[in-house]
Amino acid sequence: MCDLDHGHDHQARYGFLVDTPEIRALVDETHRLRTAIADTAARVDALRPAFAALLAADGWLPDSCAQPDAGSRMGGGIGQYALYRAEDGSLCLFSLVVPVGASTPVHDHLAWGLVGIYRGRQDETVYRRLDDGSDPARARLEISKRQQLGRGEFYTLLPPADDIHYVSTISETASVSIHLLANDTACVWRHRFEPATGVVTPFRSGYANAPCPD
Ligand SMILES: [Fe+2]
Repeated sequence: MCDLDHGHDHQARYGFLVDTPEIRALVDETHRLRTAIADTAARVDALRPAFAALLAADGWLPDSCAQPDAGSRMGGGIGQYALYRAEDGSLCLFSLVVPVGASTPVHDHLAWGLVGIYRGRQDETVYRRLDDGSDPARARLEISKRQQLGRGEFYTLLPPADDIHYVSTISETASVSIHLLANDTACVWRHRFEPATGVVTPFRSGYANAPCPD
């Protein structure tokens, strides 16, 4: 399940790393809607009830997937645990554990999806990009939105809109958010941003419990 596996050469880690009826229901519904609805925005909208059902259900997330990770590549003890990964890189479901007072780097996702809070409370700061993106090492960002989210609240990712953000835990316990995204999020090369200086750095967050392909 979510035993730590920082780059060790264990067995392949695809499919249902955590296999529960609740996770299967969401993943099966995602695959069904992918075939049924070609328009991405309409498809993500149609997925909302199944995603809300997972956030509302208790007992399906193992404790080992809800722990901080001292070896985190994101820093701050932030843990990212794969729950489901399509072997072709087209879908993943993961938990993200952000300890008390910790914040993620400012980052992007590069895929459509849904993100919601399962435990604790998060403050989210979203950025709008002001430059044209032609320089891969630089970005001009300004804050476009801030919101606080608690259990059961979730938002849609439809890049490039609202795709750059960071989150901080503002509850007295670690926050746990659940992410359903149309890529292998922790293993694709994404971007980490420093809004104050404009510096953009390639970024691969990695899963705590599963290796990325080379
Ligand atoms: Fe994010």
